[in-house]
Amino acid sequence: MAAPQSRPRRGELILLCALLGTLWETGRGQIRYSVPEETDKGSFVGNVSKDLGLDPRQLAKHGVRIVSRGRTQLFALNPRSGSLVTAGRIDREELCAQSPRCLININILVEDKGKLFGIEIEIIDINDNNPKFQVEDLEVKINEIAVPGARYPLPEAVDPDVGVNSLQSYQLNPNHHFSLDVQTGDNGAINPELVLQRALDREEEAAHHLVLTASDGGEPRRSSTVRIHVTVLDTNDNAPVFAQPIYRVKVLENVPPGTRLLTVTASDPDEGINGKVAYKFRKINEKQTPLFQLNENTGEISIAKSLDYEECSFYEMEIQAEDVGALLGRTKLFISVEDVNDNRPEVIITSLFSPVLENSLPGTVIAFLSVHDQDSGKNGQVVCYTRDNLPFKLEESIDNYYRLVTRKYLDRENVSIYNITVMASDLGTPPLSTETHIALHVADINDNPPTFPRASYSAYILENNLRGASIFSLTAHDPDSQENAQVTYSVTEDTLQGAPLSSYISINSDTGVLYALQSFDYEQIRDLQLLVTASDSGDPPLSSNVSLNLFVLDQNDNAPEILYPALPTDGSTGVELAPRSA
Ligand SMILES: *[C@@H]1O[C@H](CO)[C@@H](O)[C@H](O)[C@H]1NC(C)=O
Ligand SMILES: *[C@@H]1O[C@H](CO)[C@@H](O)[C@H](O)[C@H]1NC(C)=O
Repeated sequence: MAAPQSRPRRGELILLCALLGTLWETGRGQIRYSVPEETDKGSFVGNVSKDLGLDPRQLAKHGVRIVSRGRTQLFALNPRSGSLVTAGRIDREELCAQSPRCLININILVEDKGKLFGIEIEIIDINDNNPKFQVEDLEVKINEIAVPGARYPLPEAVDPDVGVNSLQSYQLNPNHHFSLDVQTGDNGAINPELVLQRALDREEEAAHHLVLTASDGGEPRRSSTVRIHVTVLDTNDNAPVFAQPIYRVKVLENVPPGTRLLTVTASDPDEGINGKVAYKFRKINEKQTPLFQLNENTGEISIAKSLDYEECSFYEMEIQAEDVGALLGRTKLFISVEDVNDNRPEVIITSLFSPVLENSLPGTVIAFLSVHDQDSGKNGQVVCYTRDNLPFKLEESIDNYYRLVTRKYLDRENVSIYNITVMASDLGTPPLSTETHIALHVADINDNPPTFPRASYSAYILENNLRGASIFSLTAHDPDSQENAQVTYSVTEDTLQGAPLSSYISINSDTGVLYALQSFDYEQIRDLQLLVTASDSGDPPLSSNVSLNLFVLDQNDNAPEILYPALPTDGSTGVELAPRSA
């Protein structure tokens, strides 16, 4: 409905036609001028007086004036020069916006001639406007997995000038990833687009700074820019990577459980949650599982249970780092357990020859020992020796075997049991040692005859003694043992006054007690010489002799006193006799 309304009404149209008809008829046709916009007030537009064929000084006289339809006067007549001049600064863009040509029509009335002249003035565009963006900065977010060829619209610039003075081109600053493509739309508008040329990598470059320039084609060329800030969004496109492909660590076997061993670290260059890593053992022997502990979050590995070098001295395991997207990194861990001198040498008595005969030759083997230390190196090297100054020594045999041998003849009668201390000591620092006791019994040999304390004895007996009375007791000692010490006594056969000695005296072979077999008569026999033999039961037996002098004492029948024999002056055990009458 707007179009019919803006049309001139019928009456006006007729009037206008009549008027124009007069002008075209009477005037010399259309006069055209042009003037650049933005010139100062009073700038020359055209020589109207000349073009109308009037004397410029007579313009006033002719009543020449500009008539226009209610519009602000853009032009004026200079009465002195008779020229058309600008009445003020003219902005083409304000008058004609984007129209390619900006034409202003005015009419000049020559009053006294009753003539109206049309003048068309073209306002010439000058490049007085920059192409202009709506914004100065633009944020563009692009995921790093975007494929080359992806397009992102960019803001357009507007230049109110026309023709070459209007927006002509866009440029993007040189860069590695993006290019600019400009599409011309149906309405002639040109739309810049950012085109991804090379794949992005947030981990390499998280942001890109671009500058889009819009330029016109004026002289001089005008342009303006918009800063484009491209933020690259993260994708979980990186697997965690361990700082080392192999970790090696040494640990003393005696470190207490809970001790930190080392911390493995894997880094994931992705951002935020994509870069978070969880650690776990990947390959670990069943047996090793309880020994080591891995903190899932920190990668710290500590000892969970006591280690034992002797049980296992080397562990090998694999550790993995996993991010939220199940991307994995792997590393190996080698743990060498180092020996600590924590084991005492062990001494095992493999054979013991006890008892040993006391007459064994020096060098006789008493025992075989084997020594062993579970530690390694110096901690496991053992030296073995006997303590105390005993007649034994250790001789090293092969392969940690030792022989315990005698250094000289033994004497059971002197020492019958030895408590032999064998020391085994390793070479660790500090050294550990073990004491082993070997009880060695010495077996008897019949190497001692029974002996009498004295070389000879004297004994006394009153005459008229009872038959069967015991006269004396002899005891011999034998330091040997058992049969070797079991003594039997005998009297060496002899004759006395034609009768065998054994008819006078007998000896108890077990006790050594002598008995009188007859009642002695002092007037017939005053003394007897005996040779007593003490013999042991060894094989062969050993014996010794001793002589005994037996004196018969006279008895006085008329004297009622009790008679005591004088005690032997040599301190030997006398025989105490009591008179029969007592
Ligand atoms: C041997 O001697 C040691 C001390 O040197 C002692 O502890 C051990 O009991 C003794 N063994 C015997 C059987 O007497
Ligand atoms: C003991 O005496 C007997 C008889 O005279 C003799 O044969 C023997 O050799 C003697 N024994 C010793 C050890 O002197």
